[in-house]
Amino acid sequence: MSEFESLLNSYKSRINKQLESLLPRDDSILSSAMRYSVLNGGKRLRPILVYMTSELGNTKNDSLDTLAGAIELIHCYSLIHDDLPSMDNDDLRRGNPTTHKKYDEATAILAGDALQPLAFELLSQIDAPDQSKLAIINNIANACGHLGMVGGQIKDIHSDDIEDVEALDLMHSQKTGRLIQTSLETTAILCGLSANEVSMLSEYGSKIGLAFQIQDDIIDIESPSYISGKDQGSDIGQDKITYPAIAGLEESKIRAKELASEAKKILQPLSKNADNLLKLAEYVVSRET
Ligand code: IPE
Ligand code: IPE
Ligand code: MG
Ligand code: MG
Ligand code: MG
Repeated sequence: MSEFESLLNSYKSRINKQLESLLPRDDSILSSAMRYSVLNGGKRLRPILVYMTSELGNTKNDSLDTLAGAIELIHCYSLIHDDLPSMDNDDLRRGNPTTHKKYDEATAILAGDALQPLAFELLSQIDAPDQSKLAIINNIANACGHLGMVGGQIKDIHSDDIEDVEALDLMHSQKTGRLIQTSLETTAILCGLSANEVSMLSEYGSKIGLAFQIQDDIIDIESPSYISGKDQGSDIGQDKITYPAIAGLEESKIRAKELASEAKKILQPLSKNADNLLKLAEYVVSRET
């Protein structure tokens, strides 16, 4: 295992421990479904982005784990709802039955519904000056709302109108890119990085966020379920408008790699503390899961 892979693993263990303690433990079906949907593996990319961005700051902030945990809870809620029969109708997630398959549809909807406010409750507990805390909450609310993730998801559901790469880029950037981008921006705010650093990280986040969803579309075609943990060919089965569907598979791979190298160039002026974010850009477009 490379040094970078062990770093990814150690950040993954760190967030898994955190998530375990953030989730409710009572024996209700709702808590059980919330725990099932969060503590079921996953790459934990967004928390990893939080930890790696914090490497650029000089001070360690005690609230990093809270921020990382809140963002991952929002991501997990989005996956539960994304898999529902009325959305992508998928049976497999992270190598396990999707939440509505394991429980039932109503429980899955409500588990997702409960994860989102839990995330905002946690964000309200962040230990930072009020102005920074409000900027963080505002940034995340924007990233996951009608102009961000949910806005992108509705474009995906009504994707028949998407005819060109520009419209596709917008859908991908909203549904997936914004949450990735906010992980970088809010950590930069929490760690007190300069306005210039926040804006570089934001631009980097926008590039890798789009690249991440293009790679996700490629994985849907190329990765067998035992590797991806998801139903292979789900997009094609549902006539989804994806990057490969519009631009072709080879062109999609080229575009993902180009975006990763553009992302790396943006961070070039930063100190060597950005090394891990540079490596992460490569990882985003070479992953098979
Ligand atoms: C899948 O996200 C959904 C997208 C936004 C593309 P991930 O690929 O990060 O899923 P996990 O968290 O690793 O399972
Ligand atoms: C999901 O995109 C994006 C969000 C959950 C916001 P996909 O539908 O492509 O994600 P997968 O492939 O099911 O993980
Ligand atoms: Mg979807
Ligand atoms: Mg899906
Ligand atoms: Mg997909």
